[in-house]
Amino acid sequence: MITLRVNGALHELDGLDERTPLLWVLRDVLGLVGTKYGCGMSLCGACTVHKNGEAIRSCVTPVASVGDAEITTIEGLSAAGDHPVQEAWRKHNVPQCGYCQVGQIMSAAALLARTPKPSDAQIDAGMAGNLCRCGTYTRIRAAIHTAALASGEQEGGR
Ligand code: FES
Ligand code: FES
Repeated sequence: MITLRVNGALHELDGLDERTPLLWVLRDVLGLVGTKYGCGMSLCGACTVHKNGEAIRSCVTPVASVGDAEITTIEGLSAAGDHPVQEAWRKHNVPQCGYCQVGQIMSAAALLARTPKPSDAQIDAGMAGNLCRCGTYTRIRAAIHTAALASGEQEGGR
């Protein structure tokens, strides 16, 4: 029996091989198909989710290694899809084909959580593990700056 915390809910999963990548448990067992499969080798970032707020590659994370950490997927990033990163993504029309974008958003949200006002260099370094075949990198960078600004304004308004 494996117990997994995902998006605030506790799941007790029976009959799983402990080595099963978290990605497939999320998608095939829990039906959380927002997280995408790209390379399966920790090379592209399409499968990025948060483990206790840190961006991880779910394709190379054995489910048993998660322990009692909290996993957050794109479905749990915000209840209404209005996380500042998601709002900024809409504002800048970031996606092209869209395939990499969930991973990009999850990495960007983790980056902003640890570096609230990143420089271009910090964005490039923080997002380096997320590849985009469509080359949306310029819009991604602009959207992260917008999200940083919006998050700062929210903080200031509290
Ligand atoms: S699918 Fe996990 S990094 Fe590419
Ligand atoms: S938007 Fe197509 S791969 Fe990134």
